[in-house]
Amino acid sequence: MLDRPIRMGVIGCGDIAVSRHIPTIHAHPDAMLLAVCDADPSRAETVAAQYPMASVEKDYKDLLARNDIDAVIVATPPWVTPLITMEALRAGKHVLCEKPMAVDGDTARLVQETERETGKRVQVGFTYRHGPLLESLRSWIREGRLGAPLVFRLGIFDEVWDPEGHPEHYERLFRTMQHGSPSVHDGAHVADFLHFLAESKVASVESYGLKTRPEFPTSNYDVSVIRFENGDMAKVEIGWFLPHFPKGEFEVAGPLGLAVFDRFEQYVSLRTGTKTETVRLEEDWAASCFRIQLSKFIVSIRRDEPCVPGTEEGLQSLLLTKAMEQGVQAHLSRSDAKC
Ligand SMILES: NC(=O)c1ccc[n+]([C@@H]2O[C@H](COP(=O)([O-])OP(=O)(O)OC[C@H]3O[C@@H](n4cnc5c(N)ncnc54)[C@H](O)[C@@H]3O)[C@@H](O)[C@H]2O)c1
Repeated sequence: MLDRPIRMGVIGCGDIAVSRHIPTIHAHPDAMLLAVCDADPSRAETVAAQYPMASVEKDYKDLLARNDIDAVIVATPPWVTPLITMEALRAGKHVLCEKPMAVDGDTARLVQETERETGKRVQVGFTYRHGPLLESLRSWIREGRLGAPLVFRLGIFDEVWDPEGHPEHYERLFRTMQHGSPSVHDGAHVADFLHFLAESKVASVESYGLKTRPEFPTSNYDVSVIRFENGDMAKVEIGWFLPHFPKGEFEVAGPLGLAVFDRFEQYVSLRTGTKTETVRLEEDWAASCFRIQLSKFIVSIRRDEPCVPGTEEGLQSLLLTKAMEQGVQAHLSRSDAKC
């Protein structure tokens, strides 16, 4: 077993790398940040100015060629991520790649094959499944505290419309929409939550989409109803680019009770009969999820064990979100035909 710190590089120094991954590596006792790179060198240089132990590599291929790096975080846009992930595996690195692991199923399968061929490990960045809140929710479901069948109600509305106030954010998200509807991007987390909690195969998916501005390359508000083979059902709403949004719910209702996960107030609660149980998190929820995610990645590398969530979870999430997207596109075409 490898017991020294894992020597890491970060490819892609954009929003999530700078705000979360890099500080998480820096603070982790079992990880060392040795190198960073970005297609825009000024971004990597800004990181290196703050973390002088990290050197800047101009090209990700140079970073991958280094013998002193064990593992990389690939935090690039998802249409770039799979190519770099496969190159990293072939260069002998373990990879924590951001979600979604690709924007189509065939490419995700290629990543999975490359992982098998090289014997290196891939963890997919379904960050928010980690930690005591989701674990409590899962235990309540597994123990039958809610009964069955279950209804999952999930909504994510994180990307508000403010192109003048935040033009860079607008351009990044607009580019992202050219590679799939919000269901494929933010939906990746939701699909993973469902995979993690419902633990049943998807039986059917029905989706609808709304495009609130003609210049959008795809819908910006998707609604899906998913049925599972075990009789559970989910209603999923993912909305981008409206000036105001609802809070975004995460509830599980069953014949015996109701569970609520409030990520803003950082608790999960279970109401059964007249009793309510609550599990609260004192530390920052997102920061704790990123820390636990990295710790699990390091443990997998050290023990040479498969990562969870790995490429199989990444593929399952992608197949569900692509089915959602397909339904959205069919609905949009029907709506256009009627106009
Ligand atoms: N796990 C999470 O909670 C979470 C949260 C936000 C974003 N994400 C995911 O992380 C990924 C990145 O998102 P972001 O918001 O940081 O995007 P971003 O656009 O801010 O950052 C991506 C960075 O990758 C760089 N890049 C692109 N091609 C490159 C290449 N060939 N070589 C090196 N660098 C390259 C870009 O210049 C940019 O700096 C996306 O897949 C997104 O879905 C995950």
